[in-house]
Amino acid sequence: MIFTGGARPNFMKLAPILHVMERLGPEAGAWCLVHTGQHYDPGMSEIFFEQLGIRSPDVHLGVGSGTHGAQTARVLAAFEELLLKREPRPRGVVVVGDVNSTMAAALAAVKLLIPVAHVEAGLRSFDRTMPEEINRLVTDAVADLLLVSEPSGEENLRREGIDERKVHFVGNVMIDTLVERLADARGVDAATELGLPRGGFALVTLHRPSNVDHADRLERLVEFLGGLAARLPVVFPAHPRTRARLEEFGLLERASGLPRLLLREPLGYVQNLSLMADARLVITDSGGIQEETSHLGVPCLTFRENTERPVTVSHGTNTIVGHDLELAAGLVDRILSGEYKQGRPIPRWDGRAAERVVEVLLDAWGRG
Ligand code: UD1
Repeated sequence: MIFTGGARPNFMKLAPILHVMERLGPEAGAWCLVHTGQHYDPGMSEIFFEQLGIRSPDVHLGVGSGTHGAQTARVLAAFEELLLKREPRPRGVVVVGDVNSTMAAALAAVKLLIPVAHVEAGLRSFDRTMPEEINRLVTDAVADLLLVSEPSGEENLRREGIDERKVHFVGNVMIDTLVERLADARGVDAATELGLPRGGFALVTLHRPSNVDHADRLERLVEFLGGLAARLPVVFPAHPRTRARLEEFGLLERASGLPRLLLREPLGYVQNLSLMADARLVITDSGGIQEETSHLGVPCLTFRENTERPVTVSHGTNTIVGHDLELAAGLVDRILSGEYKQGRPIPRWDGRAAERVVEVLLDAWGRG
């Protein structure tokens, strides 16, 4: 069996599954871990392996950055070559999430008639301008096992006519990792280390093209963050793409100079979790952070027009704000005055999802 990942959010999803496989030992049969190399900066990759206790990848494909076509093609070609060389032939390939590496590895495997399992199947934003939506649609269309994290995933797959025998509602593996690491995170107290009052600051992460690739929009966001920082301290760990755009649009100096706004490098998993758990509010365009804040009960404003994770809105603490900065400012008022909604528990986000994933995999593909 081959587990594959390539970008930062993949590693948090793989970690608990690999831990279950390790615990099972020989009973789980032979398996290996392949890193496509989509994310390559140590702060975007290696630190997650260290902090999440993931073993070093058995194979690193080193594909790096590029246009969507080029990056996808490089993973497709390199992963196919690896599969062709592999002896014995893998029982199956496991892909997670919705990044370019996910779709490319799935395509390479199915073309060689190797079964594919997709962890986090069925999520849909219904927005085909997002590269991740295309990756989700393609991956789910070809996968043999669709492992779903929230109820909307089952509905979406049913509507798309996917055979329901392939679909398994296992829960959210990302929450397994959170549950596993929360005590470590509370221990590091990243807020105090940054000079931030616990429970009294905002955490901001923005990296999606829809927010950071347009000069006007990014400028308005920087202005908004300046206003927010006038109300409470703000920490903004910037993805490499975001930092590059701030620089390109001549906004980096302005953003770095805002009083009480700490612009930082991307954080490790444990530091980020520590800040999330202690934040008064979180502003994001990430998928995973909508889920993590919902589980933690921390208010989250999502700066996107939609979400593929609707349970974070119906049950969790998430609100979809789009690009409406006035709406966002109003919600910040509500959060700071204690009038914002409270979340409630989400089914199967219980820290046991990876066990259910492995059970499905071994039932389908055999144990030894
Ligand atoms: C990818 C995923 C996105 C996920 C995000 C999390 C796709 C389509 N998108 O977006 O769903 O939320 O990862 O981080 O797969 N770069 C570096 N160092 C790195 C990685 C990237 O400097 O280690 C820079 C490069 O300039 C690169 C740009 O970031 O061109 C974008 O990286 P890429 O992997 O293509 O997509 P992300 O925007 O990170």
